[in-house]
Amino acid sequence: MDYLEIVGGKKLSGSVTISGAKNAALPIIAATILSDKEVTLSNLPNVVDIRTLLKLLTMLGGEVDHTETVAHIDNGSIHSTKAVYEIVSQMRASILVLGPLLARFGECEVSLPGGCAIGQRPIDLHLKALESMGAHIEIKGGYVRAEAPNGLTGAKIIFDKITVGGTENIVMAAALAKGTTTITNAAKEPEVVQLCEMIADAGVKIEGIGTNELSIEGTGGKPLNFKRVEIIPDRIEAGTYLCAGAITNSSITLNKVDPEHIKASIDKLESMGCSFDISDDSITIHPVADLKPVNLITIEYPGFPTDMQAQFMALAVIAQGESLIEERLFENRFMHVSELNRLGADIWLKGSTAAVKGVENLYGADVMATDLRASSALVLAALAAEGTTNVRRIYHLDRGYDDLEGKLSALGADIVRKKESH
Ligand code: UD1
Repeated sequence: MDYLEIVGGKKLSGSVTISGAKNAALPIIAATILSDKEVTLSNLPNVVDIRTLLKLLTMLGGEVDHTETVAHIDNGSIHSTKAVYEIVSQMRASILVLGPLLARFGECEVSLPGGCAIGQRPIDLHLKALESMGAHIEIKGGYVRAEAPNGLTGAKIIFDKITVGGTENIVMAAALAKGTTTITNAAKEPEVVQLCEMIADAGVKIEGIGTNELSIEGTGGKPLNFKRVEIIPDRIEAGTYLCAGAITNSSITLNKVDPEHIKASIDKLESMGCSFDISDDSITIHPVADLKPVNLITIEYPGFPTDMQAQFMALAVIAQGESLIEERLFENRFMHVSELNRLGADIWLKGSTAAVKGVENLYGADVMATDLRASSALVLAALAAEGTTNVRRIYHLDRGYDDLEGKLSALGADIVRKKESH
């Protein structure tokens, strides 16, 4: 198993190019199932989750030609509609094939994803919505078995909670359903918007893109013909590099970003004392020596993203004063707290709120990554800590950060990937 050895205290400088968004690419790859022709996707991030989902497509019979950032996918040859446990258990987002497989083939079996480190993460809202579109769903042997032999029918869906994956699954299912589907309380994250635009560009009429109210006129079973899609920049990767600048008190420039998508993080960094030069597709951060504390609550887009909570906690740990961080989306997304405390942080948890008292110094130690974003918080804290930190179990990082150590090294960080000796 690999780990990262980081010697803290180095200033960063220069520029970093942000990769395509993992969370945009995953639903877009799943959406290619709605087509029986070749689709080309570009600006894919070079991360494990993307390779896992592409592998699932090949297991279903699709033809995939994938280099680092480009994939040509032809799902005309799909001969199986079963997404097996071996893949789904590696990556929850595989559940995104449920809607498109059912819509195109009238049946499918997808392994239940189960829980994960950040909480229970049920898929009840996905299933309930598909049932209102006429699907018959049964859970048996750890699999969701879904059938709609005469195709799905448009329906009025009201989500009890805003769900990104649920909205994406239903938009994809609705694209091939008979008639119109409306989704109330839809997610409006930029990744959902790009999926809707891809489907709309293929000729499906979608109203309300980027709002909480979507209306989709399905094709009645006719597969779609997609244009080439260039994946949007990863707003979470971008936010993480802004935090890397802030935590090391360094000025760095991010290229190929969409500043509009990271407003919530920029606002919070400004409240902590950082300043920025912003153009259409690049951002330079100018930090301050003494970061101010921050209060934040995670919420749906355009609010502060749960996927940036851990990284901001790493910043709060060295801020001058006490910060309050409340996690509203996932019940168990504080696994990084005890690891940050091992580096010298002073964090107290009460329910879904963390009280973070800023400390003068962090000190390098051995720490363990627990989930994707928690891992990046540990890397950030290590960049600011005195001495050497070993961040273990970095397979979490490899799922979602494209060449993190390469990009940080190029900015001047002392970070090396090593192999455990046992
Ligand atoms: C997506 C992102 C993830 C991000 C999350 C919230 C991808 C691949 N992942 O995850 O990085 O942290 O959005 O922005 O895009 N819920 C239910 N029932 C359901 C579905 C969801 O109760 O059927 C709950 C979840 O447990 C959670 C909340 O709704 O509390 C939001 O989850 P959701 O938006 O669905 O997250 P994901 O799509 O899994």
